[in-house]
Amino acid sequence: MRKVQLLENFTKIYGDGGEIRCFFAPGRVNLIGEHTDYNGGHVFPCALTIGTYGAIRKREDSRLRFYSMNFEKMGVLESDLSQLESAKEAEWSDYPKGVVWAFAKKGCPIPTGFDFFVYGNIPAGSGLSSSASLEVLTGLMLKELYGFDQFSMSDIAQIGQYSENNFNGMNCGIMDQFASAMGKKDHAIFLDTATLQYTYAPVKLDHAKIVITNSKVKHSLVDSKYNERRKQCEEALKDLQKVAEISHIQTLGELDRETFAKHEMAIKDPVCRMRARHAVCENQRTIEAVQALKAGKLEEFGKLMNASHISLRDEYQVSCPEIDILVNLAWETPGVLGSRITGGGFGGCTVSIVEDDAVDMYQSMAGESYEKQVGHGAEFYVVDIGDGAYAL
Ligand code: GLA
Repeated sequence: MRKVQLLENFTKIYGDGGEIRCFFAPGRVNLIGEHTDYNGGHVFPCALTIGTYGAIRKREDSRLRFYSMNFEKMGVLESDLSQLESAKEAEWSDYPKGVVWAFAKKGCPIPTGFDFFVYGNIPAGSGLSSSASLEVLTGLMLKELYGFDQFSMSDIAQIGQYSENNFNGMNCGIMDQFASAMGKKDHAIFLDTATLQYTYAPVKLDHAKIVITNSKVKHSLVDSKYNERRKQCEEALKDLQKVAEISHIQTLGELDRETFAKHEMAIKDPVCRMRARHAVCENQRTIEAVQALKAGKLEEFGKLMNASHISLRDEYQVSCPEIDILVNLAWETPGVLGSRITGGGFGGCTVSIVEDDAVDMYQSMAGESYEKQVGHGAEFYVVDIGDGAYAL
């Protein structure tokens, strides 16, 4: 959406006058490194060019007014700086409200009310981080509107994660917010989630494209299953810390495959052991994949993506039949170098590396066969990697 349209829509809802500021925060796709970010491991996401657009204007009172073009029927949702509790029935506005709440928790209470308007073009339920983009958008808006210069964009990502964990009850890691805040056009972010140190890796693929395939399914209880996986990893870590040789470790991400294999039987619960094995091996795969990409070895990168999917399907158990169908179809298509589930799981999207001249064939073959098997079509997006959140 262009800035003029955003302003026009804003004033239709809230009326003219005052200074209206406009911003954008993108969604993300993760190339590899799944369910490693709350285990102190590495991730390799990039920002998309789709995301959430927003406009905001200060008020003189303490009212907070929220409007989303994606939930027009809900109209303007009203709240107040003195009423910052989650309104479960008005789900979408709990994300920006949570960020306002998080600023206060970080010692920067928001001084005035505001009128807030958003429009997002990330497909609903696709797992491409519409909520993280809304959090980062809100964080950037508040930083700019109230001059909170002490917060870097990395801090804004952390505030978004903090509010999602503590206000919205989803115990997510930092990846999504970090990618939305810190993304860079034509680059993926190689992020060490233990230290938040990162480097940008150029993703200019010769003769190949990144293709996202949306299964258009989202299974229920995703948040609770996610939180359960996280607990299982924590339990596994506690058992490993009882082993004298590795008692110093703070995260699973500190272990390499060999050390893990040597001590894995210390993890009592076999399910927790399986989860931890995924977290350790996926982190190693991510490091290897980034090296392969830098060396121009795209086929190797693709094979690591495939191995990532197998591990997410069998050991972490966050895939689902529809996603496995898509991944299998991709694997069967000549010219697809790698394909895997991306994001939290239980539906959403796959990400694939597809040679240029195979893109059309992949879309038509996989599209047709998926529809036959599942009963509804998939959607395909050839990825453009965009910048992290910015003012319009
Ligand atoms: C969700 C979370 C992220 C990350 C992924 C899995 O997207 O928000 O923090 O854990 O799942 O890699």
